[in-house]
Amino acid sequence: MTELAIEVNDLRKSYGELEAVRGVSFSVRRGEVFGLLGPNGAGKTTTVEILEGYRERTAGEVVVLGYDPADRDRGLRERVGIVLQSSGFYPRATVREAVEHFGAAYPRPRDPDETIALVGLEGKGDTRTGQLSGGQQRRLDLALALVGDPDLIFLDEPTTGFDPAARRAAWDVIRSLRGLGKTILLTTHYLDEAQALSDRVAIVKEGLIVAEGPPSELTNRPRSYRVSYQQNGTRVEMETEDPTELLHRLTGEALQRGERLEGLSVSRPTLEEVYLELTAEQHEEAEAE
Ligand SMILES: Nc1ncnc2c1ncn2[C@@H]1O[C@H](COP(=O)(O)OP(=O)(O)O)[C@@H](O)[C@H]1O
Ligand SMILES: [Mg+2]
Repeated sequence: MTELAIEVNDLRKSYGELEAVRGVSFSVRRGEVFGLLGPNGAGKTTTVEILEGYRERTAGEVVVLGYDPADRDRGLRERVGIVLQSSGFYPRATVREAVEHFGAAYPRPRDPDETIALVGLEGKGDTRTGQLSGGQQRRLDLALALVGDPDLIFLDEPTTGFDPAARRAAWDVIRSLRGLGKTILLTTHYLDEAQALSDRVAIVKEGLIVAEGPPSELTNRPRSYRVSYQQNGTRVEMETEDPTELLHRLTGEALQRGERLEGLSVSRPTLEEVYLELTAEQHEEAEAE
């Protein structure tokens, strides 16, 4: 068995004149949470739906759990769980009925009540799905993706439109899925979400991956320390690869003058800053429109 759950090589997808995915390559290891991060229109959903077998690709190689998803093989479908953007599944069915119904499509479904508890819907088994709050609906969506006990789960913007509490709850569910050893491919345009959940992230811009790696490494590029302090009422900021050396010099000079460096701080750029830098052109274009 290969260590890779997903392999994508030079994937391309055109819609008529528009090349939405322009040669994307990445791989996802088993048991990993991989985040596709990028602004709206970057090509995330197109990529994910090709991996799910819902869209045809224009070119490139794609292997998911050893299958080509374009073949729509039953063996693959039985091992994959999908959270769609919105399910709106039979509002009159109870939560337990919905979960049982989805589980029946899989050869070895999980216990429905256990699945309901796993997503934090304990005690809601007899509630009609139409009566659930928005956040509870999304938990149900996760339960439906999970009941078949899939190895691989696709989450396309799993928390878009959530209030902060519901987002945190969804993050907890996603972390518990990871704890169960599931491989997860998630898309998001929220940086904090990608950073909080993903083992590795690929930043997608206009159909291309512009950066890839563990969130901590993406923020760990040369000149990536920022040293700042107050001087004569203004904030002085410096970037450096070697903060030890810079601090030694700055503090040494200040002490010689008999001064203190007020408000001295050393920080790393956040993933947000890296992302904004990498996608800046696109933001500028969008603003110019
Ligand atoms: N079915 C489609 N037909 C034509 N264009 C599409 C279709 N789906 C997506 N697109 C276009 O492809 C680009 C990428 O879209 P999408 O994959 O949905 O991006 P994301 O999920 O990152 O927001 C966008 O410009 C979008 O308008
Ligand atoms: Mg999308």
